[in-house]
Amino acid sequence: MTDKIRVAVLYGGRSGEHEVSLQSAASVIRHLDRTRFEVIPVSIDKAGRWQWNDLSLIEARGGPALAIAEDAPEIRLAPRPGGEGGLLPVAGGSGPGAVDVVFPVLHGPLCEDGTVQGLLELAEVAYVGSGVLASAVSMDKDIAKRLAALAGIPVAPYHALTRQAFARDPAAAAARAREGLTLPVFVKPCNMGSSVGVHKVKAWDALEAALADAFQYDLKVLVEQGIDAREIEVAVLEGEPLHVSLASELNPSPHHDFYSYEAKYLDPDGATVDLPARLEPAEMDRVRGLAAEAFAALECSGLARVDFFLDRQGGGFFFNEINTLPGFTAISMYPKMMEASGVPYPALLSRLIDLALERHRLRHGLKRERL
Ligand SMILES: Nc1ncnc2c1ncn2[C@@H]1O[C@H](COP(=O)(O)OP(=O)(O)O)[C@@H](O)[C@H]1O
Ligand SMILES: [Mg+2]
Repeated sequence: MTDKIRVAVLYGGRSGEHEVSLQSAASVIRHLDRTRFEVIPVSIDKAGRWQWNDLSLIEARGGPALAIAEDAPEIRLAPRPGGEGGLLPVAGGSGPGAVDVVFPVLHGPLCEDGTVQGLLELAEVAYVGSGVLASAVSMDKDIAKRLAALAGIPVAPYHALTRQAFARDPAAAAARAREGLTLPVFVKPCNMGSSVGVHKVKAWDALEAALADAFQYDLKVLVEQGIDAREIEVAVLEGEPLHVSLASELNPSPHHDFYSYEAKYLDPDGATVDLPARLEPAEMDRVRGLAAEAFAALECSGLARVDFFLDRQGGGFFFNEINTLPGFTAISMYPKMMEASGVPYPALLSRLIDLALERHRLRHGLKRERL
């Protein structure tokens, strides 16, 4: 027997960011402190099937991305209250059994939008990162911006459209969506990531087609004022006080119109990064302060990467989006920003797990009824 903390690393998932997750999880598994943690690799395939993967095979294989072994035993998450729960085999044989904490290294819808978090809540297991509420509202670009704006954080003007309204009368919906905005505008599905379905619209007669495409990915789409923007990101780690990293800047290459899917994943020269971002000290302070405010306004736990636009014309920052489970490869921005701010990758992982266990303990200590 071991008295190490049993950490199930959950990866893959049913989103378009499945492949990114395989890379993030490869890094997480490689860097977890094995003197403290026993690692249990659990994959979710694109059909939603959970499988228990063999750690020694993963380690022997190496490489930048995990693979899901066809014959890895299928497992399910069983609630623990009052009995032996945890990760149990679906078809006989053995499973990992009880785990102390789950580290969801998953990105995108059905992964970091509160759904997996809800399942983990029902199973009464501790997990890394934000809870159901913060995960869900952070995933929804419309609700996230509303909450940020309510907290006094500037957001670019936008309209949210439903697919229903668009289907009823596309021309009228498009006309309403451009009210008060000037070209260019950005059209984006409300709950996606990786720039999937995002369009930069430079002529009003192209708006309807952009909306039609974006509505293939979501039932709610934003039409947002285009900003002549520098793209500034900040990493936040929970603590008292919050640990807010130095900001970084992403510079999409000039041959990309914006930070598109191609620039992010397909073009090796798609973007360069400045870490720290080349900001005036007052700007650096301002954006770090806004990131801390956004983390609090959205009631995040554990970690988040907060993305801003710095308006080249007006000079102000706009909150763009918040990622509650940001990319986690060793070269991803979140861990790199933390590293540059004094938190090395393995220490970051340990800290996140400790935070998850602490949050679970506190929530479990709450009374459930008036006794
Ligand atoms: N309002 C905007 N002004 C300027 N650029 C934008 C705007 N909205 C989106 N973009 C560009 O599109 C990219 C993807 O949009 P974003 O809202 O971050 O969605 P995703 O969740 O897919 O990353 C941004 O990184 C930026 O390059
Ligand atoms: Mg983005």
